[in-house]
Amino acid sequence: MCGIVGFIGKEEAAPILLDGLARLEYRGYDSAGLAVFGEEKGLQVVKSKGRLQALSDLTKAGSTIQGTAGMGHTRWATHGVPSDVNAHPQASESGRFAVIHNGIIENFAEIKEFLQNQGVKFSSQTDTEVAANLLDYLYEGDLLEAVSKMLHRIRGAYAFGIICADCPDMLVGVRKDSPLILGHGEGFNFFASDVTAIIKYTREVSYLDNDEIAVITREGTQVYDSYLQPVKKERHHVDWEVSAAEKGGYAHFMLKEVMEQPEALRKTISPRLQNGQVKLDDLHFDVQYLKAMDKIYIIACGSSYHVGMAAKYTLEKLLHKPVEVALASEFRYCEPLVSEHTLAIVISQSGETIDTLTAMREAKRLGARVLSIVNVVGSTIARESDDVIYTWAGPEIAVATTKAYSTQLAVTYLIGLAFAQMMGTIEKEEYEAIVNELQLLPEKLQKVLEQREAIQYFASLYFNHSSIFFIGRHLDYAVGMEGSLKLKEISYIHSEAYAAGELKHGTISLIEDGTLVVALASYKPLFEKMMSNVIEVKSRGADVIGLTTEDVGPEMMKTVDHIITVPDTHPMLLPSLDVVPLQLFAYYVALQRGCDIDKPRNLAKSVTVE
Ligand code: AGP
Repeated sequence: MCGIVGFIGKEEAAPILLDGLARLEYRGYDSAGLAVFGEEKGLQVVKSKGRLQALSDLTKAGSTIQGTAGMGHTRWATHGVPSDVNAHPQASESGRFAVIHNGIIENFAEIKEFLQNQGVKFSSQTDTEVAANLLDYLYEGDLLEAVSKMLHRIRGAYAFGIICADCPDMLVGVRKDSPLILGHGEGFNFFASDVTAIIKYTREVSYLDNDEIAVITREGTQVYDSYLQPVKKERHHVDWEVSAAEKGGYAHFMLKEVMEQPEALRKTISPRLQNGQVKLDDLHFDVQYLKAMDKIYIIACGSSYHVGMAAKYTLEKLLHKPVEVALASEFRYCEPLVSEHTLAIVISQSGETIDTLTAMREAKRLGARVLSIVNVVGSTIARESDDVIYTWAGPEIAVATTKAYSTQLAVTYLIGLAFAQMMGTIEKEEYEAIVNELQLLPEKLQKVLEQREAIQYFASLYFNHSSIFFIGRHLDYAVGMEGSLKLKEISYIHSEAYAAGELKHGTISLIEDGTLVVALASYKPLFEKMMSNVIEVKSRGADVIGLTTEDVGPEMMKTVDHIITVPDTHPMLLPSLDVVPLQLFAYYVALQRGCDIDKPRNLAKSVTVE
């Protein structure tokens, strides 16, 4: 939801900002802009509707705007349609302030009305222009005073970048519930929405906390709380390679990330398996707590929620405790039954999803202990949880998640095994069997990836369908939900995931000659029941692609039109293998349809508005 980057140093800022924005474009891509302060021309603002390329063309790759301090923005529209005028930076009416913003100012309407009554004229529909003009209104010669006063007047979620024409040698960054990091260099410094924007220049970062104000100069950075008391920040070293955030020869980040899954799984699982035992050194649970647990609430959105759907089956089986899975956006408003014996497992790739973050805070407020599964180190959800276990998927750039989903699933297995062993709810043989198979998962997943061409062929048969169904039972149903979401978000084909047994209660009326149904039937205890549902849709004219394990593939092929198989494994781990053909299917369908795979319409990678 909008990417922001600010640079101050000795080099020309604009090309560096455009480079940073290119790496943040996954956060929003409907318009982009720059504000640069130059000695000759003062504060210059350039912006353009459309992809970043339009801004780059407009500024001749940044060469037309001179200055060594500036900031850039790539937008995912909230207030006001994507347009040149609504793009950020937004300047105050006097031109003294330029502001970039990620998030939403909830009370912008009342502030706007107040400012209008003072005679301020607005030119955009954005809440950000309100912030720029509020700052100007509050400014009495001291920039930080004005920023501090503004923070006490606005409500909502935000990360702001601010330049004031009166203070050309500093940038100001502010955050509340939207991410903002500082990047520290020699003679230059940055702020940015995330590390990918600045890793080419520095690996030394610090994370701003809520209501903190950062002053960034060429010489250094200083952080204050909202009352302007200095705050000491810890520095962190980022150790992943720049190449991790580049396409590396693949046509799309999504395909690269799909193909990286065996390695991502290895990195997530291997360090946590020692001599056949799951060791989660990152967690601090004791057996009394686990035994007294009344239930587990899994809270997440989108694909992370689908991980939760699969984890419900496995955790209930392993721990003999009730597991409820909640959409984070609903959780806060459904009066959840949470006690001090409730464990909330919060799942988020970005660690910044505002729905998930606010639900997590609510769970905490109600007394739950929070264990989060997060990919982005130092993100807000990670920092606010009681315990965090990181997925080591590396940076995920494509909007459609793949490797993060897979590593989240893997972490749920590890948590289930570790807790079950502590609680004594799993037999030794079963534990060993799952651990064995867990170690083999990356290898088996590699075999699934080798079927890319066959999956591409199926995609070429069905890419022009207008509606596609995914059906399955139990864990297969949970995976079908993810397959359906992948297809929808990148190919724009309508799709539904259905519990196969539920189809006959209404939805089967949509099945007609040639409708494509992807039938997941890898969960063996329900194979026969699932096949009955496959026959039901076949009899109504559906084309069926079956997805099951190698050993029962020939049996399923007798009924379906096409088959995709995955190596057999422990039933609990099947989602990790089954999801991959569905990711590839969605990818190749979208490719055939000429869709913008890494940046699908209307979406953004990190959803920081409610
Ligand atoms: C998945 O492909 C989506 N882009 C989306 O559903 C995502 O999983 C969801 O927004 C949650 O994000 P998070 O894991 O970063 O919290």
